[in-house]
Amino acid sequence: MPELSIRYETFPDPQVLSAADQALLTAATAALPHSYSPYSNFKVAAAARLEDGTVVAAANTENAAYPMCICAEPNAMAAAAALRPGQPVVAMAITVRAPGRILSAPASPCGSCRQILSEHESRFGHKMRLILRAETGPVYVFDSASDLLPFGFSGELL
Ligand code: THU
Repeated sequence: MPELSIRYETFPDPQVLSAADQALLTAATAALPHSYSPYSNFKVAAAARLEDGTVVAAANTENAAYPMCICAEPNAMAAAAALRPGQPVVAMAITVRAPGRILSAPASPCGSCRQILSEHESRFGHKMRLILRAETGPVYVFDSASDLLPFGFSGELL
């Protein structure tokens, strides 16, 4: 029977990350106050590092019409595309905060975010490193966003 597995790294805390990855996580954390999440009160922020080194961060933006909510990850991708069109996002740090409790396990991007990040990788032919951390606890690092979307829908079919 075929079997799939993915590899990722876990680090006990951000201090052991490279300076660039630490800075990206710091940029994501700094964007948390920009979260507009009056319905879920759940804050998500994502910071994208582009190939030229530019860092762009954004947070989730909710809407009274719930399906219109915009996740932090596509918000950061759109901000990056507007600021530096044509530049691939080579790394993204994502962090989360929940009301009334301290999260200590990283949150993964939702399925639709994974589809967006994965398509960006195939569009630019460049992997996007993902750095995930909650308020405390370990950091998870994935070499490629597509690692989180096995059997994702691919434009090659169209
Ligand atoms: N959210 C994100 O920003 N990114 C994800 O990958 C998952 C969920 C947001 C959407 C909504 O504003 C809140 O988290 C709760 O679902």
